[in-house]
Amino acid sequence: GGEYDLVVVANRLPVDFSVRSDGGVDWQRSPGGLVTALEPVMQQADGAWVGWSGAPDLAHEPFDADEMRLVPVTLSQAEIERYYEGFSNDTLWPLYHDVVATPTYHRQWWDAYRRVNQRFADAAAAQAAEGAVVWVHDYQLQLVPKMLRDQRPDLRIGFFDHIPFPPVELFQQLPWRRQIIEGLLGADLLGFQRGGDASNFIRAVRRLTDYTTRGPIVTMTDEDGGPGRHVRAAAFPISIDSTRFDELARTPEVQARAKEIRADLGDPEVVMLGVDRLDYTKGIRHRIKAYGELLQDGRLDVESSTLVQVASPSRENVGAYQELREHVEVLVGHINGEFGELGHSAIHYLHHSYPPEEMAALYLAADVMLVTSLRDGMNLVAKEYVAARSDEQGVLLLSEFTGAADELAPGPVLVNPHDIDGLKDAIVQAAKMDPKEQRRRMRRLRRKVMNDDVAKWSDSFLGVLTAMPRRTSHV
Ligand code: G6P
Repeated sequence: GGEYDLVVVANRLPVDFSVRSDGGVDWQRSPGGLVTALEPVMQQADGAWVGWSGAPDLAHEPFDADEMRLVPVTLSQAEIERYYEGFSNDTLWPLYHDVVATPTYHRQWWDAYRRVNQRFADAAAAQAAEGAVVWVHDYQLQLVPKMLRDQRPDLRIGFFDHIPFPPVELFQQLPWRRQIIEGLLGADLLGFQRGGDASNFIRAVRRLTDYTTRGPIVTMTDEDGGPGRHVRAAAFPISIDSTRFDELARTPEVQARAKEIRADLGDPEVVMLGVDRLDYTKGIRHRIKAYGELLQDGRLDVESSTLVQVASPSRENVGAYQELREHVEVLVGHINGEFGELGHSAIHYLHHSYPPEEMAALYLAADVMLVTSLRDGMNLVAKEYVAARSDEQGVLLLSEFTGAADELAPGPVLVNPHDIDGLKDAIVQAAKMDPKEQRRRMRRLRRKVMNDDVAKWSDSFLGVLTAMPRRTSHV
């Protein structure tokens, strides 16, 4: 074992590496949501973070950054193709998102997934002190809890699934469904975004294993076949650093930038905004189709309204993502060609990612925020929009198929993105909503989002995990 009392294991480290021309390696902080949540606890607890270095064959010794130990895991090009692009993002990702794209099942990918999960587990075991807490994150690493427990029964192991957990009727397509369930059950505590995800998991345990379950508790079997340790599955809906977004959006620079954005767009009455990774789960095509039909029907026009779609590049080596990009870009081109005028684009499509300051300005500039996911574990963009709107204006249009909808209703205008006519009506309703109604809804939303921030999320998960009975290594 090692010396760290809290070890986080996630596919990505909270830093980006770059290789210099002399062959040396530099790193830079990449401030994601997870690291802002965990940084304070990591600094207090003597924490280590195990994650992929992010580039093929890139190796780096463990090092300290911002009072955290960072432990890079190296993957070869073939492992990136099979474990990350293949099994994680072409098998599990579509399967767990209600098969909105068709999952591909490849035994070679599974073998790589197992091997890479073992490497992460070994690295975590090497860092963790006796009796440490290890917190494993997301679908890329579902075998790590069991692999860790097998070598380190002294640890307290938590796992958080950031994406949906599918109904067993879909999950059972997976040829390695039993191994995944066993992998997860190596944890003491399994966290999910929604109550429905936790119950999907419990149903899968009942259907696919012989373990007994009682409510959210699974009882494992000990060596003699008798009842052994307990595993708890529960919902811990993730959030954002709400205060940071709120404060950012109040700065004069961001407010000025928001005005500038609206002016650049030609000061239309209604600015609509979509912000997503370019991913087929996000319902970007449904949203753009609905918008195009509203222009076609004359219910919206390009002088008085515009749609800004930020689609940040994602997983560009995976075929389904390449196809999605083609489809979206053809659709945007078609609609702009058909309805745009000189000085008035129908859709401003931006295939980039932007720093938080620019995002905050975009949120402030947007009268209507469109979140139309076909399936989404939580959707943090919805929460960021709300946190940025201390002016209590703006309308959040939100898909029913997001974790955020479970939490935020009845503040948003809820939509079923598959129902294009319903989506069109909801967009018009949002575009026409009077400022008083906007304020009433936004106040509700802000009460929730400003209160339940990501620090609360990690405290509550770690609170439940550390309150669970400790087992000693000789048991
Ligand atoms: C989702 C997943 C994360 C992942 C992120 C970005 O939010 O839950 O685990 O890190 O997407 O995707 P990427 O494949 O670039 O890490």
